[in-house]
Amino acid sequence: MQSNQATETGKRNSLHGQWSSRMAFILAVTGSAVGLGNIWKFPYVAGQNGGGAFVLVYLACVALIGMPVMMSEILIGRRGRRNPISTMALLGAEEGNARHWQWVGAMGVLAGVLILSYYSVIGGWTLAYVFKSGSGAFSESGAAGITAIRDAFLGNWKTVALFHTIFMTLTIFVVARGVERGLEQAVRFMVPALLILLITLLGYSINSGHFGEGLAFMFTPDFSKLTWDSVLAAMGQAFFTLSIGMGAVMAYGAYLPEETSIGGSSAAVAIADTSIATLAGLVIFPLVFANNLDPADGPGLVFITLPLAFGQMPGGVFFSTLFFLLLSFAAWTSAISLMEPAVAWLVERFNRTRSEAALMIGLSIWALGLGTVLSFNVLSEFKFLRGTIFDNLDHLTINIMLPLGGVFITVFAGWVMCRNSTSDELGNTGNMYKLWRILARFVAPIGIIFVFLKAVGLLDYLSNQ
Ligand code: PFF
Repeated sequence: MQSNQATETGKRNSLHGQWSSRMAFILAVTGSAVGLGNIWKFPYVAGQNGGGAFVLVYLACVALIGMPVMMSEILIGRRGRRNPISTMALLGAEEGNARHWQWVGAMGVLAGVLILSYYSVIGGWTLAYVFKSGSGAFSESGAAGITAIRDAFLGNWKTVALFHTIFMTLTIFVVARGVERGLEQAVRFMVPALLILLITLLGYSINSGHFGEGLAFMFTPDFSKLTWDSVLAAMGQAFFTLSIGMGAVMAYGAYLPEETSIGGSSAAVAIADTSIATLAGLVIFPLVFANNLDPADGPGLVFITLPLAFGQMPGGVFFSTLFFLLLSFAAWTSAISLMEPAVAWLVERFNRTRSEAALMIGLSIWALGLGTVLSFNVLSEFKFLRGTIFDNLDHLTINIMLPLGGVFITVFAGWVMCRNSTSDELGNTGNMYKLWRILARFVAPIGIIFVFLKAVGLLDYLSNQ
């Protein structure tokens, strides 16, 4: 197979084709970024970590760490035009360094597989709520009734496994067909529709009588509540929500046309993603306070607050069905990007067809996902290190693997790649390029390592010696 031969200009081509336009790329990366992380995860992690101060740290991490990591990933992806493992090996060798850099790609591919194993379970949960909403189950139940519905759903591992299976099947289906067909169209419609629905819900939560409380919870920073562990959680969330640190964006970057601006596209994605997460928080927290719920309730938070809000709204059955449908779409477009690096690798490295590769990887992820399915019921008392199997997978991938991937990616782009290579990709546009370089060489890697060391207490330990 003639995979990545050089073109006349010395640039490579990807085996998997290219995005049809700059807009298609922005939509695809936005589809990857906007997902369960914005609407399911952000509110409950912010809730568990005390609100305001966490949100501020998260925003700072998006700007100072997220942006340079995303730009670095895209530029590496476009320069290598292969799957993340081969791209890192190729560029590592080309920049006169070492092929060992492929291990960074490998860690990313593995992170994608592990994340998707539980992401699919929550995606399935969202899908189940499309049907529950449609049946009108939420319309007359109060907070206690809705909590009971959620607990009954999660308690039955067979139903959770069934929806996880459906969600994985959908994901395998799209990845097998190739990213360009279908995905682009879905995102074009989904992101604006989700935005409109969230704004409608915002109107509702403004009228809930507790908007001020929600606003204060989200934006009044109480730094005394902030621990280094929550700073690590804020940084992990920034990585997760932007889909960076694991090669998903690198894989998408491999299909990016030469002339597209990497800085501009990254900024557009980061702004869209952050706005949707903030909006979700502004919808959820007032409802949490209006209904005397606990903001630190955990992974089930939105599965209670939103049905509650919809249950009391005229046309609630319709809107809530639509909302969970859109959220399932959002999760679906993210799931595809979690799987793409592993599939691209299998196709390129072992000459598999896309369908074979998608099926093989998808089935393995499905099997791994059963660990998360059982974490909410049969094995909910089986706890080690950070908690259940789900809690451990979540912590390992989001708070450790993604930020670590971010360090290696920025060090590679900022220090290993020569100036000519990076300025060639980013377009040597004066201040923008200089700013990226400072962030990628110093601010991002040092910031990430510092937060790590603080969170595990190593710095304090050393300074007390
Ligand atoms: N960004 C997605 C979300 O916020 O739901 C999750 C995700 C997708 C993380 C793709 C990582 C990734 F590579």
